[in-house]
Amino acid sequence: MSKGWQSVLIAGTALTVAAGAFAEADTPTKFVAIDQNIDPATLTRYHHTDQGTRLFPAAWLAAIEKADGSAKFMNAENLRRLGFLVDNVVVDKMNPFGWPLGFTVSDPKTTGGIPVAGFTCALCHTGQIEYKGTAVRIEGGQAMIDLPGFIDGLFAAFAATAKDPSRQARFFADAIKAGYPTDRIKSDFEAAGFGRAAAPGTTLFQLETGRGRLDAVQGIANQVFASDLMVPTNGKSLDAPVNFPYLWDIWRLSWVQYNGFLPPQATSRNIGEVLGSRGEAHLVDRKTGALNPEPLRWQTSIQLDNIVWMEKTLESLHAPTWPADVLGPIDRAKAARGRELFVANCAGCHGIKELPDGNWDVAVVSLKHIGTDPGQATNWAGRTYDASKLGLSAETAAFNGLDIAVNAIRKQLYADNNTPVAEQEPDVHFEAPCGYKARPLIGVWATPPFLHNGSVRTVYDLLSDTRPAKFNSGGREYDPVHLGYTDDPGPDSIVLDTSVPGNSNAGHWWTDDTSRPGRIGPKLADADKFAIIEFLKAANYDNYPSVKRAKPAALPCQDDKNWARNMSAPAAK
Ligand code: HEC
Ligand code: HEC
Repeated sequence: MSKGWQSVLIAGTALTVAAGAFAEADTPTKFVAIDQNIDPATLTRYHHTDQGTRLFPAAWLAAIEKADGSAKFMNAENLRRLGFLVDNVVVDKMNPFGWPLGFTVSDPKTTGGIPVAGFTCALCHTGQIEYKGTAVRIEGGQAMIDLPGFIDGLFAAFAATAKDPSRQARFFADAIKAGYPTDRIKSDFEAAGFGRAAAPGTTLFQLETGRGRLDAVQGIANQVFASDLMVPTNGKSLDAPVNFPYLWDIWRLSWVQYNGFLPPQATSRNIGEVLGSRGEAHLVDRKTGALNPEPLRWQTSIQLDNIVWMEKTLESLHAPTWPADVLGPIDRAKAARGRELFVANCAGCHGIKELPDGNWDVAVVSLKHIGTDPGQATNWAGRTYDASKLGLSAETAAFNGLDIAVNAIRKQLYADNNTPVAEQEPDVHFEAPCGYKARPLIGVWATPPFLHNGSVRTVYDLLSDTRPAKFNSGGREYDPVHLGYTDDPGPDSIVLDTSVPGNSNAGHWWTDDTSRPGRIGPKLADADKFAIIEFLKAANYDNYPSVKRAKPAALPCQDDKNWARNMSAPAAK
């Protein structure tokens, strides 16, 4: 059963009342889908397939009120404000509460008989651009969600409920109505300890992400080394938030993650991701903090079959094609000239380099050369954790400690799921590359803002020799001329100040100033920028520059695993 248009209108009406000035701009009334080569039924399943994230019992999430008590926390207006895609959701067995795209409810067989709420790939990897009231869904695109805001708000809501007896009584009644066992609600809620606990992560510095960013890799390291191992001093500040990257063609890239630290071993990557997304792990005994015996130590809530299925599904996903009926026609002559400029200036780094097995080699360009914000790459390569509980050193880099946990967890999943050897991925080895990868840019027009940290609002700005120092980040209204979101503030948008470390918009410069760090080419004339932009609108699998390559290029800086620490050490005179 689809909620369809009626729910769209209801949600829209509620927002108009509550959100005032921003409501109209942020509430699309028409929805357009682009064919991205996956049929709607498969997409719906993909949007709500449980990966193993364990937030709270689903009935609790359905029942909990916002901290201010004004409405249910999961109401469409609150979730729309946080950037979730609340319109046109399908209500069915997989999404019984009609939550936004990307939320999940576990099969109770996997969670002790109680359905548990979580989220999945689509929450962070589905975009939407809006233009004059029409919304275009971008499957596998960049989400514009404020996940830290969601988690903080949710914990505040539970804490407020724990403090107020009349709210608690309402919460219990509603949770029971939503299916929670009557005889357990009181004791289970008390055992959860909301009255005592601070929201996780609140003691760590967290650079304001706004909608559309998350320091995911540090989040995974904190979850595993600080929370799961119960060594709180391992927690590190979340100061390098990144855009949610786009997922089409990702399975064929020779290196993934912004800094290319992983070969395309999807199960290993997704194990790390689920751990960081509030998957349950049992590395240590929660009472004593001592390492648990095997096999319990490596058993997790990760749903192996589901993550493998989602990964396979994503192999069919095509880049979106420019929706000319919404955003205006492409000037084909200009695009053809743009392609020539692209081949001359960009394809060396961004062109397809097809390997003999059909996969695409991607270059990781060193920080020294590209000059963009170093945080994501240096945090990953340079920070260390006390992993002595795992028999490793007290100064273990994430790329060494996570290898061990991820490989052991993957093998345990194979053992527990009787996975045939032929279907098993080999052990993964994480790298510590010294820069960021340059991937092919088919469909990139649909994924603003740009650079790994979302610090550049439009493609036009990225190709210019000056860029706005501040802009409003978080709105979804599209600018089809410059390719990006407009500078209009949306609900819950932030002013992204690029002078703050982590937000730097430097690098990837096209400038005549040959001494500027991060210069990759000469100043581009406006007409040339617009021609390249026209090509990026038109780029598809047939016209995109492509060459053959015999074997993948090595990552740079592989000979020196300590490059990040050495780089931040005082320079020898
Ligand atoms: C909580 C949000 C979140 C969820 C859920 C999530 N991801 Fe991601 N994903 C991210 C972020 C953020 C990054 C970028 C991290 C980095 O490289 O610094 C990322 C990176 C990736 C990459 C590498 C992309 C690249 O440009 O190299 C792939 C592939 C990927 N995710 C696939 C998935 C799949 C498949 C799932 C579900 C099984 C999933 N993700 C679930 C947030 C998420
Ligand atoms: C020297 C290699 C190199 C060249 C040449 C180059 N780029 Fe890039 N490009 C990169 C790297 C590396 C990144 C990722 C940097 C980051 O995220 O910090 C990037 C990122 C981008 C992005 C943002 C992608 C995203 O998902 O946010 C766009 C758009 C882009 N480049 C367009 C171009 C265009 C257009 C040209 C030619 C005019 C060009 N680039 C030339 C290396 C290059």
